Amino acid sequence: MKKLLCEMEAYAQEYNVPIIKAEAADILLREAMEKKPLHILEVGTAIGYSALRMAECLGEGGRITTIELSDERADLAEAYIARSPYADAITVLRGDAAEVLPTLTDTYDFVFIDAAKGQYERYLDAIEARLADGAAIAADNVLFRGYVMDEQCEVPRRFRTIVNRLRQFLAMLDEKPQYEVMVYPEGDGIAICKYKKI
Ligand SMILES: C[S@@+](CC[C@H](N)C(=O)[O-])C[C@H]1O[C@@H](n2cnc3c(N)ncnc32)[C@H](O)[C@@H]1O
Repeated sequence: MKKLLCEMEAYAQEYNVPIIKAEAADILLREAMEKKPLHILEVGTAIGYSALRMAECLGEGGRITTIELSDERADLAEAYIARSPYADAITVLRGDAAEVLPTLTDTYDFVFIDAAKGQYERYLDAIEARLADGAAIAADNVLFRGYVMDEQCEVPRRFRTIVNRLRQFLAMLDEKPQYEVMVYPEGDGIAICKYKKI
């Protein structure tokens, strides 16, 4: 597994595939290891790197469903996953998460949101009915290059929508009583939320 993950890290670096940063991965995997989830939902597979890292934290008989928009990346993810010990535990679903999420019928006790940064609130809305009581939700890049928390700094025009939507996403998590959220600055900022059915 270590060799496979190193190969994936090298591929991501060479071909500019954005995979989770090491410091954010530490937070994500600490949560997953503590929870030992039975069904993880990942939004944003890329080449399957974080899915394989999380697979090592699954409880017995656990599985992962992961969604990817790009067919090219989904193909690569499936090829890497097939070479891992988790080939039977991970399913890659193809398509736009905003369309795939409302079609899901299972229940998830751990969710990792890591796809289109401006769509996190939409993703969570679509998933909420499928969350197990006590589920953990991680969302990567929530501080987006430091712009999200820094109200003084001028956000470049091309990032304004993303930054505003990430701010709205964090404000929504803060306001809704069913979520308890902690934002860690590691990597590009990673939020870890606990969901309580009310
Ligand atoms: C940051 S990468 C995911 C990295 C991966 N979680 C990891 O750490 O190894 C984000 C991925 O989300 C995918 N993506 C972007 N928009 C999407 C959408 N609307 N639906 C599904 N996947 C999407 C991109 O193609 C990209 O591969």
